[in-house]
Amino acid sequence: MTVADFIDLRSDTVTRPTAGMREAMATAEVGDDVYAEDPTVTALEADVAALFGHEAALFAPTGSMANQIALQLVVPAGDELLCDADAHVVTYEIGAAAAYGGISSRTWPAVGAEIDPDVVAGMIRPDGYFAVPTRAIAVEQTHNRGGGGVIPLATLRELRRVADEHGLALHCDGARIWHAHVADGVPLAEYGTLFDTLSVCLSKGLGAPVGSLVVGSAEKIARARFIRKRMGGGMRQVGILAAAGRYALANHIDRLAEDHAKAARLAEAVAPFGVLAGPVRTNIVPLDLTKHPLDAKALATAARADGLLISVLGPRTARLVTHMDVADAAIDRAAETLTRLLRA
Ligand SMILES: Cc1ncc(COP(=O)(O)O)c(C=O)c1O
Repeated sequence: MTVADFIDLRSDTVTRPTAGMREAMATAEVGDDVYAEDPTVTALEADVAALFGHEAALFAPTGSMANQIALQLVVPAGDELLCDADAHVVTYEIGAAAAYGGISSRTWPAVGAEIDPDVVAGMIRPDGYFAVPTRAIAVEQTHNRGGGGVIPLATLRELRRVADEHGLALHCDGARIWHAHVADGVPLAEYGTLFDTLSVCLSKGLGAPVGSLVVGSAEKIARARFIRKRMGGGMRQVGILAAAGRYALANHIDRLAEDHAKAARLAEAVAPFGVLAGPVRTNIVPLDLTKHPLDAKALATAARADGLLISVLGPRTARLVTHMDVADAAIDRAAETLTRLLRA
């Protein structure tokens, strides 16, 4: 049995390029992007900048690199970033902010998308007597470990006001900002106006095999190009991947609503067993097994034996993620499997 034989709900990063996407990749015009001569990359960067109403964007190999380039743009070495304790930038990027950017991070208690701007404002340290100066606030839209939660527009506007009042930058880890856009109907350009920098991923729900972008002002993106090269992210005939990203933007944004509906169906199936960790707004179903006889590893092992893959996030926390490679029939089977295992 190979992984392709399983119903894979571990992550939305597991999708394979569609035939249409592969065709776009195969026929892409390419050039050396380190010389800024790849027309497909240049077009993708212009498309994404325009979508978010910013001046410029930069293609990067991964969401982690895009985040870390952006953080280095807005926080000088030794200065401070504020973010959620469960933020991807301080949880899953292997200390990169400190290791590459010399950035000092301080976190507010993990609240997912339920951010209280007053709590954030209360953490800001001004320049002063040997305190670490706060330079930026980072948020995650949607929030991965926060169960795919969507930060409300009003909260983001308030955070923007707080940032402006204190002269701070606001960064968005928008790996799944497309899902927030589809769930809340907020235009991408509206999100764009609220942030100094964004990182957005093509390789999560949008189904491209690789690729993320840093979005910001022309000045910031010129500097970002320099930082990307320093981090080893200067790529050559990479239009072949940018073409997949352009295809994903043209064809795979609106269909995210289907993934949200699939997640809602799974949530409905597991809710009666008291294991739903919170409301399901997008394509992530967070499970809290604290009160269930099965722990996360036991559930994942039993599910695997039944052909279903899920993610273990902690001893009693697990996650299901829907995406374009799980058909409706597979969701029905996954729901049946989970119901059977949770009932036992
Ligand atoms: C919220 C969030 N940000 C950033 C990333 C990093 O993306 P990558 O795996 O491409 O480095 C991920 C990956 O899952 C993510 O969920």
